[in-house]
Amino acid sequence: MKKSIYTAVFSLFCSCIFAGTAGREVINFDSGWEFSRFGTDGAQEAGYNDSKWRTLNLPHDWAIEGFVKSGSPDQDMPVLSVVKGQWKFNKGDDLKWKAPDLDDNTWQNVNLPATWEKHSNYTEDNVYGWYRREIIVPENMKGKDVMINVGMIDDADETYLNGVLIGATGSFPPNFKSEWTAIREYKAASKIIKYGQKNVIAVRVYDAYGNGGIYAMRLDHLVEGPFDRGAASGAGGGYMSGGIGWYRKNFKMDDSYKEKRVSIDFDGVYNNSDVWINGKHLGEHPYGYTGFSYNITPFLKYGGEDNLVAVRVNVKQPCSRWYTGAGIYRHVYLTAVSPLHVERQGTYVTTHDITANDAIVKLEVMVENMEPKKDTVSIETVIFDANNSVCARSISGEDIDAGGSKKITQEFIITDPVLWSPDSPVLYRAQTKILTEDRETDSYTTSFGIRYFKFTVDQGFFLNGKHLKIKGVCLHHDLGYIGTAVNRSAIERQIKILKKMGCNAIRTSHNPPAPELLELCDTMGMLVMDEAFDEWTENKVQYGYGNYFKGWSGKDLTEMLRRDRNHPSVILWSIGNEVQEQWWNDHAAASNVAKKLADICHSEDPTRPVTAACSGPDNVMKNGIADQLDITGINYNIYAYAKYKGKKVLLGSETASALSTRGEYNLVESDGEIYPEAKLNSQCSSYDVCKPDWGNTAEESLKAVNNSPWLAGEFVWTGFDYIGEPTPYDWPSCISYFGINDLCGFPKDRFYIYQSQWTDKPMVHILPHWNWPKYKGKKIPVNVYSNCDSVELFLNGRSLGEKSFKETQDLYLSWDVVYIKGSLKAIAKKDGKILCEDEVKTSEFPAKIVLNRDISSVAAGTNTLIYITASVTDLNGTIYPDADNNINFKIKGPGEIIATGNGNEINHAFFNAKDCRAFHGKCLAIIRAGNAPGTINLSASSKMLESAGIQIDVK
Ligand code: GAL
Repeated sequence: MKKSIYTAVFSLFCSCIFAGTAGREVINFDSGWEFSRFGTDGAQEAGYNDSKWRTLNLPHDWAIEGFVKSGSPDQDMPVLSVVKGQWKFNKGDDLKWKAPDLDDNTWQNVNLPATWEKHSNYTEDNVYGWYRREIIVPENMKGKDVMINVGMIDDADETYLNGVLIGATGSFPPNFKSEWTAIREYKAASKIIKYGQKNVIAVRVYDAYGNGGIYAMRLDHLVEGPFDRGAASGAGGGYMSGGIGWYRKNFKMDDSYKEKRVSIDFDGVYNNSDVWINGKHLGEHPYGYTGFSYNITPFLKYGGEDNLVAVRVNVKQPCSRWYTGAGIYRHVYLTAVSPLHVERQGTYVTTHDITANDAIVKLEVMVENMEPKKDTVSIETVIFDANNSVCARSISGEDIDAGGSKKITQEFIITDPVLWSPDSPVLYRAQTKILTEDRETDSYTTSFGIRYFKFTVDQGFFLNGKHLKIKGVCLHHDLGYIGTAVNRSAIERQIKILKKMGCNAIRTSHNPPAPELLELCDTMGMLVMDEAFDEWTENKVQYGYGNYFKGWSGKDLTEMLRRDRNHPSVILWSIGNEVQEQWWNDHAAASNVAKKLADICHSEDPTRPVTAACSGPDNVMKNGIADQLDITGINYNIYAYAKYKGKKVLLGSETASALSTRGEYNLVESDGEIYPEAKLNSQCSSYDVCKPDWGNTAEESLKAVNNSPWLAGEFVWTGFDYIGEPTPYDWPSCISYFGINDLCGFPKDRFYIYQSQWTDKPMVHILPHWNWPKYKGKKIPVNVYSNCDSVELFLNGRSLGEKSFKETQDLYLSWDVVYIKGSLKAIAKKDGKILCEDEVKTSEFPAKIVLNRDISSVAAGTNTLIYITASVTDLNGTIYPDADNNINFKIKGPGEIIATGNGNEINHAFFNAKDCRAFHGKCLAIIRAGNAPGTINLSASSKMLESAGIQIDVK
């Protein structure tokens, strides 16, 4: 979008030399970084010894790589868990009780963990209590800081070691705030610790109501693959790591850059980054999802001299309700421009008065003059259509003061405009040149689309004058088994899968996405609800964005809006998801926060409506938040669609949260009847019967949306499984069950219910599979999804009858089929004509591996990923639905296996393993094509199975 002359400089050397050219250069700055999780303060200095660090290319996510040391998950720091055992307890409050030499003999002996209601029958509300105990810090930790784990405390605490405050969580009255689920891990500095001797811990606790005290300890560490059951990130964060990571990169700048203005631009670093150049601190950036840029011109050294960029990333856990990843997980660029140039994110394109004959395109350009003198400038913009033909041109002349900048507005009339839509994602391009004294000093290209839309109270959404139901999914930003490190081809694959399902919209829950996602939504045709935050002023987790909201939300929101407002795919700004403020009763306080954010959106971009995703629709209608929104986003609570009909523009901003595991049916027998058990053995049935208390099955929410034609549509939670939030379970489950597709991107049965409702191309799908020897002669419930009128089901060629969707309220047709092995076939008809069919067949024993690739050739050096599906089949090629054979992948040629996975939410294998167990007959290998052309040969083998091989051309 924003990048014009795009120069990718790849270097095999750590210290690359950049040589400047005239005009603007955007230099990819991803390669050859040194990385360590043991870096220390001082690593920003040139003399720092990083010889033991690892060299890698960005984008990078270290959290999927696992924990650096068991027992010390997040840092190279020993953890002492002190909860379990005997403590002294005293009711009341006196700060003197922190003193290490206090005589606490009269205090009660209690065994923890336990609430104080349990251990002392202390049942009053709004009270204090103190705990003390002695601990020995082992001699062999001498000199080290130690992490003291005080477990979970209800509600707030202050913790002292040897009389010194080492940490506090939540807050005491009058500003009471409960943090009853947070795990307390406090760093005790070596200078206050007595190694090999007794140390006294004193914990001051306040409880508001309900339970109080030190009631639970941190779970014991159980590290399996990249997961740790005791990780501070918890189930939400997928039991993965965080901590501190350091990156360093050396580079040289040619003398030709002396005349330029150079910035370093980060698309996103998760999170709390600090950046230095040549030892000079450039700034900090807490939010992990917004980009930022630093002007490094004054600090650069030229010619043969080395420059050093250092980045410190500090992921304090728990920081999120889902897996965030850790590190510089998006791209980094150096941008070099002439002193007279278009500013960063310096264009804003809007389209107006669109008819079949013409459209007005308006461009605002911010031009900055860093020359020491006033300049007389020509700004020339040419608009190109999708065929690269010039369709409009404008030249403006301006004087710009030295050191100043100016907004220049240009208007164009485009005749016979070709409109952008998900079905026809046609893009135009505005190329803006800055000229002075006949010299071109900058050239800046912005791509955009021409389209218009509206949301209405009574009929929902219209695009280019036509009604369009939003058939959307919510997506978190991880890309399955490659973690969060952004990769264009991985996102492209996700969008292809979603489009096949009939999906036309993505909600970037709950944060600004990678720029690549929006670029792909523009070019592939997807509408986008672009979301800013999951927390406003009040945290949901201990180290959440709430800690930074006050100081940063305005900047972060503006950054998102300016980066994203030229994308035709974006149709909605969401200022928040289920923020705690939605529950506030203080009308002024709640609506003020919403107003500030909505005002920023409206002033940065008056062309798009503002929404927020609210799970408390009744509350936001009362407390004024809804009044600040153009569209009320309703999460779940499908009753509210009818309740607020006609009162507000409504959107199902989050729906369903149905749960399932690919290929898992949980069929059990009771009283001679076979039925799907929703939850069993850490898995969820794929019959669309499993949901959390607040959610709905896919069918329930589809029906609610179908029955509410005034609703703009829905965003289903979620398009793909993601790492973390393994509702309805916790350990050993580490991956979510919400996805319509699993973590590999393989469709679950739910994919087909959406396809049947969201597409017209004839389809039919049967579930379950047809391998039920243990239920021979018994009735198996069979469901069929289709977008045709009727379906006839055949067992081994014998008709089991035809059923029509006209005769049922259900979104599926069902039969009870007495199991005998063979073939179950569904033939779907429309107007009496056979249009499509689906068949499930009984598989014989697993005999071979079959490999399939999603693409057959890729361009070298593009970081393209190739997804290879390995299926375990019988001799006839029918997948064996229970196969869990371990498959070993080997690769030859210009590519590497970067990940494997099987979609099982309880699989604990490392994602970068070269072998993988099949799960319900399938697993995935992800290959990254290299920089050289050639042929990649991937082979897959397993004991007892015939091997397979597949080729991919790298061109
Ligand atoms: C919603 C929330 C999502 C996710 C989902 C799971 O309430 O907005 O982030 O947690 O629940 O059902």
